Amino acid sequence: MKNLKKQVGIEAAKYVKDGMILGLGTGSTASFFVEEVARRVREEKLSLTAVTTSSVTQAQAESLGITISSLDSIDFIDLTVDGVDEFDPDLAGIKGGGGALLMEKIVANISKDYIWIADESKQVDQLGHFPLPVEVVQFGAELLFKKFKQKGYQPSWRLNFEEEKFITDQKHFIIDLHLGKIDNAQRLAFELDQTIGVVEHGLFINMAKHVIISGENGIKVFE
Ligand code: 5RP
Repeated sequence: MKNLKKQVGIEAAKYVKDGMILGLGTGSTASFFVEEVARRVREEKLSLTAVTTSSVTQAQAESLGITISSLDSIDFIDLTVDGVDEFDPDLAGIKGGGGALLMEKIVANISKDYIWIADESKQVDQLGHFPLPVEVVQFGAELLFKKFKQKGYQPSWRLNFEEEKFITDQKHFIIDLHLGKIDNAQRLAFELDQTIGVVEHGLFINMAKHVIISGENGIKVFE
């Protein structure tokens, strides 16, 4: 599995061109992409403006010699490469397994090209087996949790290693919805967008332009 993630991370780094404004995704797969980009910056002397999708990726990139710019200092991103937790045949996906969905969506939203990288296990016919992360403000979060429970969404709190509520980079909580399957992702996304207290959710619809996956039979690109 680690090898598949590494392969696809290296493959995606081929899309990076000198002079680009680049968005760096979050997660174990994206970390291989960051590693390979750093190698190219070092060895090929690529000049890039890089922005991050999480504090974890920022720390990794900086430790490898990639300078991270503020998102507020740019108007658009040429290319963002990120991981994904599940994607369907329409290239709709669930993200946020690593808790970075809010920053990831903000970065994706201003990216001219947006690519997901994954091992083949992330490809599904229907979204929903992976719990859907919903980032919520701390104030009134218990009320939202109860509301989701009443709706039958089987919520659980995202916890940290100390079994306390996980706090995102932007200081919110995450409620994971254990839906089993999502029959209408558009409708659910709309409903969550309208829910007061929800900052963002992990449904990424009509955002990814390509998905690159690696599997037993090599690399495949979906567009
Ligand atoms: C983080 C994410 C990740 O990209 C997603 O969870 C995939 O991670 P991994 O590559 O480790 O499986 O959305 O918020």
